Amino acid sequence: MPRVNFDPDKDIPFLQDKVIFITGGTAGLGRASVRALAKHDPAHIYFAGRNAQAGQALIDEIKNTSPSVGMTFLKMDMTSLSSVKKACTGFTHDRLDILVCNAGIMDLPPAVSEDGFEIHFAVNHLAHAMIIQQVLPVLQRTTELPDSDVRVVALTSAGWRAHPKNGVDFATIRTKQEDFTMMGFNLRYGANWGELLNRQNKIANVIYAAEIGRRYPKIKAVSIHPGVVTTDLVNNLPPMRKAFVYGTSWLLGNGVVDESKGRLNQLWAAAGAKRDELVSGAYYTPVGVRGKLDEIAKSEELGRELWSWTDEVLAKMV
Ligand SMILES: NC(=O)c1ccc[n+]([C@@H]2O[C@H](COP(=O)([O-])OP(=O)(O)OC[C@H]3O[C@@H](n4cnc5c(N)ncnc54)[C@H](OP(=O)(O)O)[C@@H]3O)[C@@H](O)[C@H]2O)c1
Repeated sequence: MPRVNFDPDKDIPFLQDKVIFITGGTAGLGRASVRALAKHDPAHIYFAGRNAQAGQALIDEIKNTSPSVGMTFLKMDMTSLSSVKKACTGFTHDRLDILVCNAGIMDLPPAVSEDGFEIHFAVNHLAHAMIIQQVLPVLQRTTELPDSDVRVVALTSAGWRAHPKNGVDFATIRTKQEDFTMMGFNLRYGANWGELLNRQNKIANVIYAAEIGRRYPKIKAVSIHPGVVTTDLVNNLPPMRKAFVYGTSWLLGNGVVDESKGRLNQLWAAAGAKRDELVSGAYYTPVGVRGKLDEIAKSEELGRELWSWTDEVLAKMV
């Protein structure tokens, strides 16, 4: 499939009446997405993060550039499922057209979240699952509106491919996964060379998005890789680790791009692609190229297992 020639300014339609929710909107690709989508006059953009100052700065900026767009910052710490659940009560609209599960962490030191889950899995998968669960009724209601076009876009990473043999190793999620370190590099974000290393949270993003698509056929749910992008996620890595990320991306012929390019794939999936262009459950590489999934990432059985495991975890959270 050829790369889509996509210019968000020209190719995103008028988003009249639409309500959008973007996690991790205070920096990097999430903030770039808020800025780009606001130009097309949606009714309201909710965005989330911990950094309230950055949240207010973005609201002030958008109020200047696109005064008709309603803006709400939802302060949440995604290392705590109760913080996420509480913040979601700040979502008060009766429709939600576009949810972009964008927030993410990578290569943090070994830790567990407030709720006792490996920190990357907690933020990148579980916290998003909590948000999805909280807004699912409104997403579903929105599918019943005339001309509805409801989308969920999950940010994964091409690193999902380096998953453990069984895709998601449920037995390790309630640990720090300290074993998944090699030569001092922390690879819990996803890499799996042999049995040792583990990038299960990013394959979870792929599998969970596909499962949403299967369970709720009126919602288009996809996962996307943005490319290797010079955001703080990568810029703040230790030098050797950063060299590894950049080096492998260059070697694979993909290079490293800045935010103006890195934002494109998620913007295309969220609002640029025509509804019938987007295949629910698919994984896309930049821009709009259907990526190949391996048997594990395609596994409907694993999709069901991840869904019910996640449901059980979330049900215990107040
Ligand atoms: N950049 C890349 O090369 C690359 C490659 C592949 C995939 N991705 C994926 O793209 C997505 C966006 O990454 P990015 O490069 O834009 O990262 P970034 O610049 O580091 O921004 C991360 C965003 O996530 C939020 N966040 C992080 N931890 C959080 C927490 N505990 N609670 C609430 N919000 C939190 C941050 O907000 P606060 O600081 O306000 O909390 C920030 O807005 C991620 O899912 C990442 O895995 C990126």
